[in-house]
Amino acid sequence: MLSKETKIYVAGHRGMVGSAIFRLLVKNGYRNVIGLESSELDLRNQQDVNVFFNENQPEVVIDAAARVGGILANSKYPYQFLMENLQIQNNLIDFSLKCGVKKFIFLGSSCIYPKMSQQPIKEEYLLNGFLEPTNEAYAISKIAGVKACEAVKKQYGLDYISLMPTNLYGPYDNFDLQSSHVLPAMIRKFHEAKEKKNITVELWGSGNPMREFLHVDDLAEAVIFSMENELKESLYNVGTGTDISIKELAKLIQQITGHKGDIKWDTTKPDGTPRKLLDISKLKNEGWESRIDLESGILSTFNWFIDNLKDIKEVKLNF
Ligand SMILES: NC(=O)c1ccc[n+]([C@@H]2O[C@H](COP(=O)([O-])OP(=O)(O)OC[C@H]3O[C@@H](n4cnc5c(N)ncnc54)[C@H](OP(=O)(O)O)[C@@H]3O)[C@@H](O)[C@H]2O)c1
Repeated sequence: MLSKETKIYVAGHRGMVGSAIFRLLVKNGYRNVIGLESSELDLRNQQDVNVFFNENQPEVVIDAAARVGGILANSKYPYQFLMENLQIQNNLIDFSLKCGVKKFIFLGSSCIYPKMSQQPIKEEYLLNGFLEPTNEAYAISKIAGVKACEAVKKQYGLDYISLMPTNLYGPYDNFDLQSSHVLPAMIRKFHEAKEKKNITVELWGSGNPMREFLHVDDLAEAVIFSMENELKESLYNVGTGTDISIKELAKLIQQITGHKGDIKWDTTKPDGTPRKLLDISKLKNEGWESRIDLESGILSTFNWFIDNLKDIKEVKLNF
């Protein structure tokens, strides 16, 4: 049974996702929430993770630690995206099991599903077809994490589950143009173009792909909901259930940032998967739904970006 004194370890608590979960746990009155930066505990190191678990004995583990990045970083460094994520999650899952952790929440990504998946994507479509090649290595590591949690649940009867969020955005996102995802990259590009007297903004691809976006504070709510309730299955999608074309998204961000110039689409650059919308009915049937609509979510993220311009995260490609 969970109480406000339960020791909860949030791995990756300084990242966009981990920090949102950490903030919400504290806000909801959990008094024993712990986290370490990668400089204090490198989760790739099996020995160090072993020592950490034995010394700290967490009761709940939330795995929001991962090597993440956009198309560019993923296609340039597949080995690191595969190997580092396997190392991090294997160490966390295995030492959680060995130290008697009763609840484990593994965070993956919707890129685990086949590139040409039927839409909206149901959890059971996993491993039904080929993956998007630009992030195949990352997706394979995440699929391994899903399968490891499923195996623990099946074999040991412990509540080890995986949540697959759609594209996320919000405070503490990565705004570095070399390694960021589409939404924060657009916020930065449109803002900087506006500052430079509304110069043209150049964006990758045709603008036709359809994508779904979830505010990270909504994801944090879903994580805490999943932590506080025993869910039936071991894999759940987390999304809003609605999608938007990249072109429409660009127009919305252009309007929110106040950019008055042109948009040029560089169609020589890849589009990625044509459509990606998660079927969210499984988690909805358990009782959870997102609350933040896209326009107000982008507006608050843009305001956060402006307020934090000096310290915005620029994840340098550290390979
Ligand atoms: N962002 C998205 O759009 C999105 C969408 C779907 C799913 N997700 C999932 O959410 C999870 C977190 O993503 P995020 O966007 O929050 O990423 P992020 O902001 O880059 O944060 C990653 C976190 O992982 C930690 N980390 C990385 N390597 C580590 C290592 N070797 N040892 C210890 N800690 C390490 C980092 O710690 P330090 O900062 O201390 O180095 C950081 O706290 C990932 O599993 C990702 O797949 C993200």
